[in-house]
Amino acid sequence: MEPQQLVEPQQLVEVVNTRHGFRQATSLARATGARLGFVPTMGSLHEGHLSLLRAAVSDCDLVAVSIFVNPLQFSSVEDLARYPSDLEQDLALAQATGAGIVFAPSVAEMYPGGAPETRVEPGSLADRLEGASRPGHFAGVATVVTKLLSLAGHCRAYFGEKDFQQLAVVRKVVADLDVDAETVACPTVREPDGLACSSRNRRLEPDDRRAATVLFKALMAGRACVAEGERERAQVEETMAAVVAAERRVELDYAVVVDPVTFERPTRLAGDLRLLIAADVGPVRLIDNLGVRA
Ligand code: PAJ
Repeated sequence: MEPQQLVEPQQLVEVVNTRHGFRQATSLARATGARLGFVPTMGSLHEGHLSLLRAAVSDCDLVAVSIFVNPLQFSSVEDLARYPSDLEQDLALAQATGAGIVFAPSVAEMYPGGAPETRVEPGSLADRLEGASRPGHFAGVATVVTKLLSLAGHCRAYFGEKDFQQLAVVRKVVADLDVDAETVACPTVREPDGLACSSRNRRLEPDDRRAATVLFKALMAGRACVAEGERERAQVEETMAAVVAAERRVELDYAVVVDPVTFERPTRLAGDLRLLIAADVGPVRLIDNLGVRA
């Protein structure tokens, strides 16, 4: 008698490196009636990315992941060069989590004529906060996401709330340009001590890694302040800034309360709001955010 097979044989992931190959693979999947999920990433996959992938796998019949460190969204060459990469490990993780297609193009394949002259300019939403601190960043994100979604074709596309302003920018681009994708937002995945998972965390020295938890602590302090009845936006922002100021290894860029759709900062707090924070922890810039209701 044949021994009983206890473990399902793992489906092999299809790795494509060309735009043409990616378009073909996704079109073929749709032609068989499969619902396509798509998770755009810059690789160096961690639990945050994998949560997006798991959500896509549970909603869709076939899931594609892209792994592309997009030079257009980095303002400095050093920052780009320091971006971690481990394609072999990423492929193993993507496959183990149930991805069917991995699109991993080179920079020359994505931008054959060099940096493209045509860019997607996301407008006023992209000028403030992260956009103000990293000029050109969101145009780089919007341009590559538009290209990726155009290659993927009709799909459900998964993005993390961890990058809350990016999520809003992507949604605006998809709506304004009638991109054929349904965006799905997934909650932020955190380490046990509250630090949001990020590829950048790997670059933190041990003391900076410990200090980095202050971002989440500041957000929790801001949330508690609102829960206790504070309605002055400036007071809540001061509370968050004071928590960060107590940690000398961390330099605050901003700690703000915004409307989650317009990103305007109301004077008096009411309804659904978002606390956003960005800081340098040693040489590493980290961002985080949390929802609150006043
Ligand atoms: P990357 O930083 O690799 O993130 C890919 C996706 O994973 C994004 O949607 C991001 O919000 C999500 N993500 C990252 N950390 C997360 C966490 N801790 N919890 C939940 N989701 C998390 O964001 C980018 O790449 C790029 O800008 C990209 C959209 C791919 C365009 O180049």
